[in-house]
Amino acid sequence: MIQAAVFGYGTVGSGVVQVLEENKKEIAVRAGEGIEVKYILDLRDFPGDPYESKVVHDVNTILEDSQVKIICETMGGVEPAFTFSKKALERGISVCTSNKELVAAHGPELLQLAKENKCNYLFEASVGGGIPLIRTINYSLTAERIESIMGILNGTTNYILTKMAKEGADFDVVLKEAQAKGYAEKNPEADVEGYDACRKIAILSSLMSRKTVQYEDIYTEGITKISAQDFVYAKKLGRSVKLLAMSKKTETGYVAMVAPVMLQDSHPLFGVNDVFNAVFVHSNMLDDSMYYGRGAGKLPTASAVVSDVVDCARHLGKTVTCIWENEKQELEDYQNLPWKFFVRVPADAKDKAMSLFGDATLIEALPDEVGFMTAEMTEKAFNNLVKELPEMITRIRVNI
Ligand code: HSE
Repeated sequence: MIQAAVFGYGTVGSGVVQVLEENKKEIAVRAGEGIEVKYILDLRDFPGDPYESKVVHDVNTILEDSQVKIICETMGGVEPAFTFSKKALERGISVCTSNKELVAAHGPELLQLAKENKCNYLFEASVGGGIPLIRTINYSLTAERIESIMGILNGTTNYILTKMAKEGADFDVVLKEAQAKGYAEKNPEADVEGYDACRKIAILSSLMSRKTVQYEDIYTEGITKISAQDFVYAKKLGRSVKLLAMSKKTETGYVAMVAPVMLQDSHPLFGVNDVFNAVFVHSNMLDDSMYYGRGAGKLPTASAVVSDVVDCARHLGKTVTCIWENEKQELEDYQNLPWKFFVRVPADAKDKAMSLFGDATLIEALPDEVGFMTAEMTEKAFNNLVKELPEMITRIRVNI
């Protein structure tokens, strides 16, 4: 029996314990040995919980027990998860994590530590919840040169945008409803401002470039400015608005960004609705492939953590390959990417806007204003033009 510990007995941590218990026979066969939770680390006590007796409050109780071979870190946040993970890896204990903040901030350092101590730092659950993405990039697409990754990586914002599209409701109304149902956090900033998706695309971009893409370098725009009116136009155009996290290999480097984008109904990501996530990968031999599923939630995320536990059990004393160097990957200017732009202006600015943008296509859908779609241009060129158009109500990038 392999002894494991869970750090953080919240939603995902308790899901990990549940998955290990409910699927213990399948897991034992696949891991080659049974896996048992010996400890649960949490600040709280859980009176009446079936695992109450396994709860400890001092991390050293776990780290000093030489029987513990694998830790599931489901605490979230950088500290103390970073310190605890380092201490575990230094002792040769493998760590499986769902913690995207920590992976995005310190992934290569922790991977290096795992390598030095012949154990593993695995992070399947940190991006796309239960969708096997990290393993797909690391183990499956190994004959490919990945040229671009475009994904819906945040369930909360996808739920909000789907509701806005279906019901014609405004952002604030849908956000409140999502909070009431527990789909959005009380403090929704990390989701709605795109920070969560930014960390996830930083991780995927790093795996793609094999160097470190720092999340701070990724231009990030959330969905708080998207309105019910924007969806009226989107519908008329046969499009929807999705929060996309993107990373692209250019001729000279890499570019990454997170922003709401109008997607045409023929795009594979158009039909990805509600809390679902999907990642659309373009690589040079396979061409397009897409990975779809539940990107959040207790059991889907826990399942991904446990899949890493099985991987660790299969490779005790050995480090599995994950190429992610500490060296910084500089990003190119996202403003050089080409888009079409959807723009709304008050009706009395229509002539000025049309003469400014030349071959733009007019879209009339609401009183007192007009919408139009520009020709293809870089963001830099667009920003130069709209300097002359202070009347602009809003603009959304349009996928070409
Ligand atoms: N807040 C995240 C989301 C949870 O909505 O996708 C999963 O990382």
